[in-house]
Amino acid sequence: MELKKRPRRLRANETIRKMVRENHVRVEDLIYPMFVMPGEKKKVPVSSMPGVYNFSLDEFVLALQEVVELGVPSILLFGIPESKDRVGSGAYDENGIVQQAVRLAKKHFPQLYVITDICLCEYTDHGHCGVVENGQILNDPTLDLLARTAVTHAQAGADMVAPSDMMDGRVGAIRERLDQEGFAHIPIMSYAAKYASGFYGPFREAAGSAPQFGDRRTYQMDPPNGNEAMLETRLDLEEGADLILVKPGLSYGDIIYRTKQEFKVPVAVYNVSGEYAMVKAAAANGWIDEKRIVMEALVGMKRAGADLLITYHALDVARWLKEE
Ligand code: PBG
Repeated sequence: MELKKRPRRLRANETIRKMVRENHVRVEDLIYPMFVMPGEKKKVPVSSMPGVYNFSLDEFVLALQEVVELGVPSILLFGIPESKDRVGSGAYDENGIVQQAVRLAKKHFPQLYVITDICLCEYTDHGHCGVVENGQILNDPTLDLLARTAVTHAQAGADMVAPSDMMDGRVGAIRERLDQEGFAHIPIMSYAAKYASGFYGPFREAAGSAPQFGDRRTYQMDPPNGNEAMLETRLDLEEGADLILVKPGLSYGDIIYRTKQEFKVPVAVYNVSGEYAMVKAAAANGWIDEKRIVMEALVGMKRAGADLLITYHALDVARWLKEE
């Protein structure tokens, strides 16, 4: 047999495999989502997401210690407010739960890069991401509230804001208001391609943000669509987005790939709550090797074109990377 090409030569042992490895998950890629709530000495487990908690602010600061020690550079913050109302006023309250958490995080860990999620659904009593009238989710009246939310986050010290509501024109509205208020230097990571996904179920338990009527299909994207994601991304970039987020991760490898190929901007991928819950459930049953599965899923996102990985596995991944 005279084979000229033998790809197996470069797979012979771990040393050479490592030398020719094309993609890597690095601790610098990781963004760790965290949930803050009012109260004291509270660390409430999210039942469908083992290892994920709702933290009161004192416990949040303690938890950040570990994030920083593990070298995870960044967190993405979500808030569970004291009370919810029709217009989600807790979202843009200067002393809202996220605003307080940002101030504390930046005071104790100035180097930690704090990103805040901009949305109303955790703060509205109807659980929708926009203003509701007669059962309709209104687009334009929502923009002002999102822009106000972004400004209060920036005032509290957020390093970056990440609108996840999927209203049309919100990136432009937020960019304009941030610039007016002296925050031209704060980048926007837009959830540009955010699908109406079944994979957000456990998050809605964590944030208590399930819609009280209907669903999110009139604003989040229809899962079968790919070209539409390119349209959303183009619009968000035109409106001033600095980074693009694709969400969920696992079932949307083509969208990650296309976004990177077409726009060549930094792409973040959100490895969402349902993806995390599935891995955790199978691992708890001894059906899969958790570390292998998580690393394979995350490096798959990198291979598709992701630069940043938003994942509830971030602390475990940082630990595994350290062990190596
Ligand atoms: C808020 C928001 C959601 C997620 C991130 N921001 C929930 C939703 O759109 O219903 C989901 C994150 C996850 O599932 O991990 N709009």
